[in-house]
Amino acid sequence: MSTTNEPATLRGKHLLGIADLTPEEIVLILDTADAMKEVGSRAIKKVPALRGRTVVNLFFEPSTRTRTSFEIAEKRLSADTLNLAVASSSVVKGESLADTVHNIEAMSPDMIVMRHASSGACEFLSRICKSRIVNAGDGMHEHPTQALLDAYTIRSHKGRIAGLKVAILGDLLHSRVLRSNLLLLRKLGAEVWVCGPPTLMPPGIERYGVHPTTSVDDAVRDADVVMMLRIQLERMQGLFFPSLREYFSVFGMTPERVALATPDAIIMHPGPMNRGVEIDSAVADAPNSVILEQVSNGVAVRMAVLYLLAGGSEA
Ligand code: CP
Repeated sequence: MSTTNEPATLRGKHLLGIADLTPEEIVLILDTADAMKEVGSRAIKKVPALRGRTVVNLFFEPSTRTRTSFEIAEKRLSADTLNLAVASSSVVKGESLADTVHNIEAMSPDMIVMRHASSGACEFLSRICKSRIVNAGDGMHEHPTQALLDAYTIRSHKGRIAGLKVAILGDLLHSRVLRSNLLLLRKLGAEVWVCGPPTLMPPGIERYGVHPTTSVDDAVRDADVVMMLRIQLERMQGLFFPSLREYFSVFGMTPERVALATPDAIIMHPGPMNRGVEIDSAVADAPNSVILEQVSNGVAVRMAVLYLLAGGSEA
């Protein structure tokens, strides 16, 4: 599944963030996802790569796309999967994360896929667990598999990442998707513009080597990729802009604004979308929107990550 000059597997035992991956490892994951996508197109969508391995999905925050696509990916690789329903677990009785995970580990899983509201929760788990840890989103830190599936989707449309102008707009401050995407896109050589209100601009974002702006027109002009981010009201404890209506009028992605991008630009959004807030329905549902394709590609990319972390054997 690998081509020459690429590593045959990942160096690390865990996938905690894009920050830990080399450009070669990112390309290896994307190339492996190509092979996994082919598995998903078969009548029998299953390979024995993770037969006999147990994967626990531990989601402490809501999820539609990430949780279901990890579960589908695990099943397609023939793993035994378990979803811990946190809301009906002993977490609600006050059991700590460490105790919860030590008890799960007593049942000998091989991998734990975790989403948690606290930044660094997956790194903490990797220090106290024997299992391999996959970060499915930790607080405002990273969401590495989202960035990988975004890169896979971009590459499948544009044939490359290097040299593309990628505009990322929306709630930059609270977005783990942003952080993972900035790291990945810069490692692979994209030119990245980020745009949002000054109150939602992370301090020091220039250190990622990106172009920050509050002008939607400047961000979108001649962009090859326009990626919208959700306004994360659940993480806002104060007013970051006067009203949702005003936010949409200044920063919402409309067909008129998309017209500034290159004629073959693609529209992306990690979901869930706030239609009429960060994105107009006419843009979300346009022919150049690849939003549902991102979701489809998530299965292949997560299969690739699980397969490579397991050692890349028996596919
Ligand atoms: N993109 C994403 O993480 O979506 P979910 O919250 O539904 O998993």
